[in-house]
Amino acid sequence: MRIVVTGGSGRLGVSVVTFLHAQGHDVVSFDRAPHPTLPPGTHRTVDLADPGQTWSAMSAARPEAVVHLAAIATPFSLPDHIIYETNSRIAYTVTEAAIAAGARKVLSASSPTVLGYGTPRGWVPQYLPLDEKHPTAPWNGYALSKQNIETIMQMFHHKNGDTVTLGAFRPCYVISPPEWAGAPTQQGHTLYERLQNPALSAVALFNYVDARDVGTFVEAWLQQASPALSGETFFVGASDALATRPLADLMPLYWPGTEATAAHLTGRESAFDCSKAERLLGWSAERSWRTELTGAPADLASHLAAQPTSHLEPSFAARVG
Ligand SMILES: NC(=O)c1ccc[n+]([C@@H]2O[C@H](COP(=O)([O-])OP(=O)(O)OC[C@H]3O[C@@H](n4cnc5c(N)ncnc54)[C@H](O)[C@@H]3O)[C@@H](O)[C@H]2O)c1
Repeated sequence: MRIVVTGGSGRLGVSVVTFLHAQGHDVVSFDRAPHPTLPPGTHRTVDLADPGQTWSAMSAARPEAVVHLAAIATPFSLPDHIIYETNSRIAYTVTEAAIAAGARKVLSASSPTVLGYGTPRGWVPQYLPLDEKHPTAPWNGYALSKQNIETIMQMFHHKNGDTVTLGAFRPCYVISPPEWAGAPTQQGHTLYERLQNPALSAVALFNYVDARDVGTFVEAWLQQASPALSGETFFVGASDALATRPLADLMPLYWPGTEATAAHLTGRESAFDCSKAERLLGWSAERSWRTELTGAPADLASHLAAQPTSHLEPSFAARVG
């Protein structure tokens, strides 16, 4: 399949491009900058914020499928209205240009933040684990741009009917291969620190996904995309929680009001239910922090399990309200 991936130089994009390329697809990434580990010949420098550049790169590539990952990916890393405008506009332009260039499958990255956790007003889930039916309530420009992206996919689905399959997915907190070995994650701390201090992972409801597992999800969606899947959104996450203790214990500590809804999240249960992807695409994540984490003490699980977790990091309450 001839595939354009936007944002192929990012922490998620590198794994997605590398995996699709290894599967024998003809892949090209549109990104502002190359990445040293991308397969040779797979990068094109394109500023997707420039509609002229986007349309001409897309019509030259003539892809059968487009996977749209490029975005300002960190909430509050720029003024909120810039994140909102940029992510929304790029997604619209990429999708419109892709379909005009002949693409018949378009898959875009949304985010679990559409659910609204972290709002200063306080957030309590209606139920756990969270699935795609849970109401959304974005409270910042990043989350709203991601909700827009899901709506943009649906808009082009309504416009094009069965001629194009469009979808969105909400990757959980993405861990790329260098991060398992100790490189800083998106929030600046290491995986080991994230496991050692549950407050760091609590902010994202202890969710995560290995970037290579997102690669297998994208391939599964591209292979099986059909009109029946058009307009659908999927959570894409690991099957366990990024925590060394059950969420039945941890959730109420950091998310007051979840005592009852989290009570059945015993063992390694995640706060996110990704069974829709399993049901409709036969996809589930293969990797867990328990098998992937390196560069930390060998007895990590037992070492961390012995740590007290009853304290709240002082800034946590301020961050999530
Ligand atoms: N990392 C996560 O935990 C996470 C979680 C949920 C959703 N997502 C979403 O997944 C996608 C990928 O995330 P990521 O972590 O790989 O982000 P990233 O910041 O590592 O990568 C984004 C890439 O997009 C490119 N890009 C941004 N603006 C561009 C433009 N105008 N023109 C060309 N290229 C541009 C950047 O150069 C970068 O390579 C994003 O849409 C993000 O919102 C990420």
